[in-house]
This record gives sequence, structure tokens and C-alpha cells, in this order.
Amino acid sequence: MKKFTSAIDAFLGKHNWTPTRFGREIAGDPLFVFDLREGREPRSETRNKILKSMDEYNEGGMLAPLRIGVAGLGTVGAELVKILEKDGAAISRKIGREIVVSAVGARSRSKDRGVDLSKVEWFDDPVALAKSSNIDLFVELIGGEDGPALASVKAALNASRPVVTANKALLAKHGVELAAIAEKSGAQLGFEAAVAGGIPVIKALREGLGSASVTRAYGILNGTCNYILSRMGEEDISFKDCLVDAKALGYAEADPTFDIEGYDTAHKLAILSSLCFATQIAPDEIFVEGITAVTQADIKVANDLGYKIKLLGITQVSDEGIEQRVHPTLVPKSSAIAGVDGVLNAVVLETDHVQELMLSGPGAGGAATASSVLSDILDIARGTSVPPLGVPTAELKPYKRAPMRTHEGGYYIRFNAKDVPGTLGVITTSMGKREISIESIIQRPDLRGENPTNKGENTRTIVLITHETMEKNVRTALDEIAKSGLVIGKAQLIRIEKF
Ligand SMILES: NC(=O)c1ccc[n+]([C@@H]2O[C@H](COP(=O)([O-])OP(=O)(O)OC[C@H]3O[C@@H](n4cnc5c(N)ncnc54)[C@H](OP(=O)(O)O)[C@@H]3O)[C@@H](O)[C@H]2O)c1
Repeated sequence: MKKFTSAIDAFLGKHNWTPTRFGREIAGDPLFVFDLREGREPRSETRNKILKSMDEYNEGGMLAPLRIGVAGLGTVGAELVKILEKDGAAISRKIGREIVVSAVGARSRSKDRGVDLSKVEWFDDPVALAKSSNIDLFVELIGGEDGPALASVKAALNASRPVVTANKALLAKHGVELAAIAEKSGAQLGFEAAVAGGIPVIKALREGLGSASVTRAYGILNGTCNYILSRMGEEDISFKDCLVDAKALGYAEADPTFDIEGYDTAHKLAILSSLCFATQIAPDEIFVEGITAVTQADIKVANDLGYKIKLLGITQVSDEGIEQRVHPTLVPKSSAIAGVDGVLNAVVLETDHVQELMLSGPGAGGAATASSVLSDILDIARGTSVPPLGVPTAELKPYKRAPMRTHEGGYYIRFNAKDVPGTLGVITTSMGKREISIESIIQRPDLRGENPTNKGENTRTIVLITHETMEKNVRTALDEIAKSGLVIGKAQLIRIEKF
């Protein structure tokens, strides 16, 4: 037995493999080496099989094919199968191992998905697919935070089978629990495609930053919102009309609520935060404001003042805790993030060692997302082993939320004000009482009438830009101004970030 253990140790050293990789790829059990080291001896039959596999690998350098099972054959799943069909040979050459789709599943077996599935085993039940002994890796591309996605991912991990998923909703809600199951069973859990589609930001955070620690991360994480805001800035088109076009072009779902109200961005931000700051994932601790209240008037005035409006997800650490927020944001036109338009996404990582790092690219779409799914599959095929959330789950810190009202920054405030003497005085006095210093004031009679609540009254648009101040002071001033009866409707408040 000592000779057998030494042969394995020599193999690990020679190929620079982890014990988990050896267990998974040669012994068929990720914990095999650990069990052996604890004195649990395999049967002689198993031992001989392993010695033979080691010899074969040493001679040929080529591992047995990695058999994957794909649950979900929609936009991303069907594209993944297509890419593997097309690029399979090149992938094998690149990583020294063949990737084979050996099982698939979806709701409808008869639907044409543009791929040949005649030689592939079909499963109606994703859990049965996840447990099948004919696959080495399970890919979940069904979607949804619970239901079959959760059940099948858990089933695969519990069977020590590595999992790759693009499901941000699942990760945001159950990420820590799933990472813990993965750790316990020695299986890998990859979710590169869950945040910012084709942009390899999870890999950058988990493996690419070395010892650099992130102090703040922000990004454009939803292509639908970025498309709408970019187009409203380029053309004289309302939010409503732009949304209709986005649906027609396939950039927005039939029910776009989740995207335009900011929840999709929030899910991705929660996952990013955990990786940035080694904390529990906290999707319910995010201030979320969507883009539905942003008007043409805001975009025009912001542009005149040198800003663009973007829906940003921002996470940062301060002495008070972690502040996670999703909201429309004025960003200087000169900033790198302001140049990310259309359906593109971008993530900026501010760190102590490498300062600022921006990654940008396609955030969604079948091909870009499937490419990220494939990148996780290839990592697992190569035997890369990293804790799913960057650190072991036991080391994740409890999440401490910094109160949003203590947020400090500049603000864009737009009033639809009655066109009577004294209105501006009331506004500036109220701001002054809270020590809010005003950088600029613009009155725009040309934007009158945008507010449907005008009811024939003469109004003018007044826009203030403040210097850095506390959010709670701004909100108190706005409450007082509203009580004066001189402004119509709710004032528009958009935070400014200076990058
Ligand atoms: N699309 C993107 O651009 C994108 C980007 C980033 C991340 N993602 C994530 O990737 C995942 C997949 O997205 P998608 O756009 O490819 O979704 P999709 O087009 O709606 O496809 C979902 C697939 O899951 C199958 N399915 C649904 N319920 C099932 C069940 N109970 N049992 C078995 N199969 C079931 C569907 O079967 P049928 O085809 O038979 O109906 C379909 O093939 C989601 O988590 C999504 O958030 C997508």
C-alpha cells in the first residue's frame, strides 16, 4: 500500500495536480487521495485500475474525455452545444482532453434547437440528469432561483460532481449554501457567466488579482438598461418608446420589470460584493432603484452639464460596513465607464495594488454567455481547483450593511417648479439650512410641460448640482421644499459619482 501511495504522490508532483483533481479524474472520487491518506485502503481491483489509468496518462498525456450533461437548451444551452460541436477538436488540442456532451435535457424534446442531439441521452428530469453516472460534469442552464435549477445543482454537488451554471438568481440566493456543499463534496462550482455574461470578472476576482484587495467595485451590469439609457442620450426618444424597440430587437424580455427595476443588476452585484470583500452574499441588503423614472429632460440636462446617466451597481467598503447600491448615476462624460454604451457591460475594480481595472464587453447573449460557461468547463477539465467564492465558506465574514442615508456624494436634483417669484429662494434656503453647497443651478423653461401633472400651470425645470453632501440632508431639504407647495410632483434625485 505504501508503494501505491508513493506512486500517487509522485504522479501529483510530476504533473502538478491537486489531490482533488487526481481523485476526480483518475479515481472517480474527489476524496480518494484524502481517504487513502487517512488509511482507508481501496480494493485491489480499484488499485489496479488506478495504476493503469496513471500509466495511460503518463504515456499519452491525454485524459479520458470529460462527459458533460447540459440541463436547459435555450438561448445559452443550445449555443453551448453548438460551440462544442464546432470547436470540439480545437478545444481537445488546447487542453489535452476531449469534452463530450453525453446527456441533455429541457422541457420539450421535440423542439428544434439547431443542434444534432440524436446520439445524446435525453432526460426530462434535470435532477435525474444531474445524478446520471454517464456524466462527469453538470451544466445548469435552466434559470430560476429555486425549483429544478436548485434541485439539480444540489443533486450534482452532493454526488461530488462539478457544476457550471450561468444562473445569477440561484447564486445570489443560495450561493453560500451551494459553495459549502461543493467544498464538502470536493466538487468545483463555476459561475463565470452569472455576472456580466462574457466578461471574465469572476476569474479576475478569484484568481487574477493576486494579493490586491478591492476597495470599491462598480459596473454596468444590465445590457437592457444600458441600451435604453444610451439610446435616450443619442436620440430624442422617450423611455417608453425605447423599451418597445429594445423588446423588438431582443434586448429586453417580454416582461422587462426585473431588468429595468434594477433587480437583475442587484443579483449580480450581490455576487460581486461577496467575491470582492469575502462576505456572505446579501441580495436583500441592496438599495435598488431602477431606470423607469429617468426622463429625456434628465438626460439632456446631464449632458449639458458634462455627464451621462448610467444604471450602476456599486459596492464599497467603509468603516460603517458595506454599501451596495443600484441606481441611475450621473458619471462624468470623460470617465471610462461613460464610454460603455449600448448593450455592453463593464465592471471596474478599484484595488490597493493595481489601482483601477476596467473589464468591458458583451454582458449577455447566447454566444458570449456560453463562452463564459465553456471557460468554466475548461478550467474544471484542466483540474483547476478554487473555492467557489474565493475563500472557504467558513471564512466568509458576516455581512454588515452601511446605512444608505450616510452615503456621501454629489447630487443632481430636478424640480418641476411653479413659475412664481420666490421659488428659487425657497429651494436654495432649504438647501443652505442643511449646509448643502450648490455647484450649479440651471433653469430650463424649454423643458416645461414634460410633467403630465402640470395641469396648465406655468412651470419651469430647475436643476441643481450639489457638492458632496450627506444623502439624509438632501432628503430632509427635499421634504421641506415639497411642503412649500411650490414644486409639482416628486423631485428627481440622481446620485453623482466622480470616477
Ligand atoms: N440569455 C442570456 O443572455 C443570459 C446571460 C447571462 C446569464 N443567463 C442565464 O443563463 C440561464 C439560461 O438562460 P437562457 O436565456 O438560456 O434561458 P432560456 O432561453 O429561457 O432557456 C431555458 C431552458 O431551460 C429549459 N427548462 C425550463 N424549465 C425546465 C424544467 N423544469 N426542466 C427542464 N428544462 C427546463 C427550457 O426548456 P424548453 O426549451 O424546452 O422550454 C429551456 O431550454 C439563466 O439562468 C439566465 O439567467 C442568460
